[in-house]
Amino acid sequence: MPERPAARRVVKPHITIVGAGSLGTSLALALHTAGYAIDEIISRARPASVRKARRLAMEVGASAATVTRARIRAGVVWFCVPDGAIASAAASLSGANDWHGKVALHASGALTSGELAELRSRGASVSSVHPLMTFVPGSRPPLAGVPFAIEGDRKAALAARAIVLDLRGRPFPIGKRNKQAYHTWGMFVSPLLTALLAASERVAAAAGVRGGAAKQRALPILRQTLTNYAALGAAHSFSGPIARGDVETVKKHLSVLRAIPEARNMYIALARTALRDLPAKNRVGLEKILKK
Ligand SMILES: NC(=O)c1ccc[n+]([C@@H]2O[C@H](COP(=O)([O-])OP(=O)(O)OC[C@H]3O[C@@H](n4cnc5c(N)ncnc54)[C@H](OP(=O)(O)O)[C@@H]3O)[C@@H](O)[C@H]2O)c1
Repeated sequence: MPERPAARRVVKPHITIVGAGSLGTSLALALHTAGYAIDEIISRARPASVRKARRLAMEVGASAATVTRARIRAGVVWFCVPDGAIASAAASLSGANDWHGKVALHASGALTSGELAELRSRGASVSSVHPLMTFVPGSRPPLAGVPFAIEGDRKAALAARAIVLDLRGRPFPIGKRNKQAYHTWGMFVSPLLTALLAASERVAAAAGVRGGAAKQRALPILRQTLTNYAALGAAHSFSGPIARGDVETVKKHLSVLRAIPEARNMYIALARTALRDLPAKNRVGLEKILKK
């Protein structure tokens, strides 16, 4: 019988996570589940920060360390700190070990791998690796199917790609110059969408539907809207008075919203966007009343 070629043995690098916040926690748990050894969870020295790092370290079989005591033995170090702290956290850890041969990643959507320049100058290969997903305390979204935008040095980008594939995420390359626009897009699809939902609750209150009831009653239509968007795209998911060209109804909405000026501004901005980008009837009549 012909001998089968031996399967290529891919050794998973050990990973250190800096920052046990929303993303760091989800990522460490997902990496642990995917069979990665998490070496250290690194935090600031504040007691609350150390407690969080210790808790997460316990869950993933890592050791917890503060920035000044970190050993950085792992081959991959993933910075999951706020954008404004990436460069300073990297600088604080730059003397902790020899960075030659190591890979340093950060998770910012807006910033490039240039934030890790200090570690590159010490021999590391660096990359930014941003999951297009929302992470909030108390929710651990699955990473399977999540797109990850990757940019940076070849070695680090390839290492990041392999890790993302092990997490069953979808890696894709992003140019340095496109990162800010990319992150602005991300802002629209989650944080600003959430702001729109918050505004919708204020409008619901004007109709006497308050708190949890507004959310519960909105969920079926919200879910169907997303289902339609996924299956049909934006143009074929668009219904309502603008699609029908119903000027009188839109006038009534604008009148209700005089009591909620921020929601009125959002309504007008989005309705104008709809007139420009989506199928609408009676555009001229609608444009006239939406100028106000
Ligand atoms: N959340 C998301 O939806 C999301 C999605 C994609 C990408 N990201 C990216 O992920 C990164 C982290 O965001 P996040 O939402 O997870 O933030 P977060 O929940 O605020 O967590 C940040 C963590 O970093 C720690 N930290 C702050 N400064 C530090 C420093 N100098 N050294 C070590 N640890 C430090 C904080 O610890 P203490 O304050 O307790 O000390 C906290 O645990 C950002 O680059 C963000 O752009 C986030």
